[in-house]
Amino acid sequence: MNILAIETSCDETSAAVVKDGTEVLSSIISSQNDFHAKYGGIVPEIASRKHIESISPVIKEAMERAAIGFKDLDAIATTFGPGLPGSLIVGLSAAKAISFALKKPLIGVNHLEGHIYANFLLEPKLKFPFICLIVSGGHTQLVKVTGHMEFETLGRTRDDAAGEAYDKVARFLGLGYPGGPIIDKLAKTGNENAVNFTRPMLARQSPGGGGLEEEYKYDFSFSGIKTAVVYYVKKNPPRPLGEGLGVRVDIAASFQKAVVDTLVEKTIRAAEENSIKTVAIGGGVAANSKLRADMKAACKNKGIKCIVPPLELCTDNAAMIGCAGYFRYKKGMVADYSLAIESTARIG
Ligand code: KG4
Ligand code: ZN
Repeated sequence: MNILAIETSCDETSAAVVKDGTEVLSSIISSQNDFHAKYGGIVPEIASRKHIESISPVIKEAMERAAIGFKDLDAIATTFGPGLPGSLIVGLSAAKAISFALKKPLIGVNHLEGHIYANFLLEPKLKFPFICLIVSGGHTQLVKVTGHMEFETLGRTRDDAAGEAYDKVARFLGLGYPGGPIIDKLAKTGNENAVNFTRPMLARQSPGGGGLEEEYKYDFSFSGIKTAVVYYVKKNPPRPLGEGLGVRVDIAASFQKAVVDTLVEKTIRAAEENSIKTVAIGGGVAANSKLRADMKAACKNKGIKCIVPPLELCTDNAAMIGCAGYFRYKKGMVADYSLAIESTARIG
């Protein structure tokens, strides 16, 4: 079964052709980073305009690289949310048009499902149950996956997503956008023990069950770490950027350690306390070298299997949407043309 998958939820225009759920025949990603960098973050209006410019050429290239014709497609999958409304609508409209023209089923995929299913592209025989840590620019969520499309939320961020904290700290330090890869690279030469930034919500486990609707046992919080960086820099101003990066390198490394320690510790605790023997990761921050290394090491130490997808499957891509779309299709979860974007769509 050949699925043409489309992903335009944020600032990457992507199309892929995926065969039988896990075989990627082609995957094209057109990044808009350069257009947003000078503004220090994503400008939604620019994002949607760039998607409109790129969507047709990107789909065309994905079809050419897969070396199949439109008549060989069996279904069209697209992200319907969560994401930026003006971005989502471009991919959804394209998918609807192609589905309608070819008279092939339309499958709406949740972007977060996509990040989880990237792990099946790496490991098609992945067994349930497993825990997936989704860490991206918009989300930080710990999900227990008990079967195809069966998700239970174990924890979420109460404030900033991990990637958002990276981007904000990088902007505050004048390092550029997107902040995650920049801090990741800088941190390699810094002293991660230079500053002991707070690790909120590690010592105190939220009660879970009852209480606030939004409260889960393994919730995260990252805005405190970000604020701690801001206070530290105000008290200990680094030299102007023109004179080199100076202590920014140590601050970047120390900030990264605080974030990664929190992510790893909570994930391992959730796995152990729920007797789950497999941990997977997904989302842009899962491309972080320290998170990848520390999660693998912590899992090994506890006898937990750890799945870490390659970098190009962690950041936004349509191949993961094609994979999730296949398993949705298998469960009869096919959409109709009333499918609408849902910018705050959730799973679990
Ligand atoms: O999943 P993604 O591509 O888009 C969203 O769904 O948000 O994630 C983008 C986020 C950005 O915040 C970016 O700074 C972060 O992922 N990111 C990283 C790294 N590469 C991307 N964060 C830390 N280390 C990285 N190497
Ligand atoms: Zn994403």
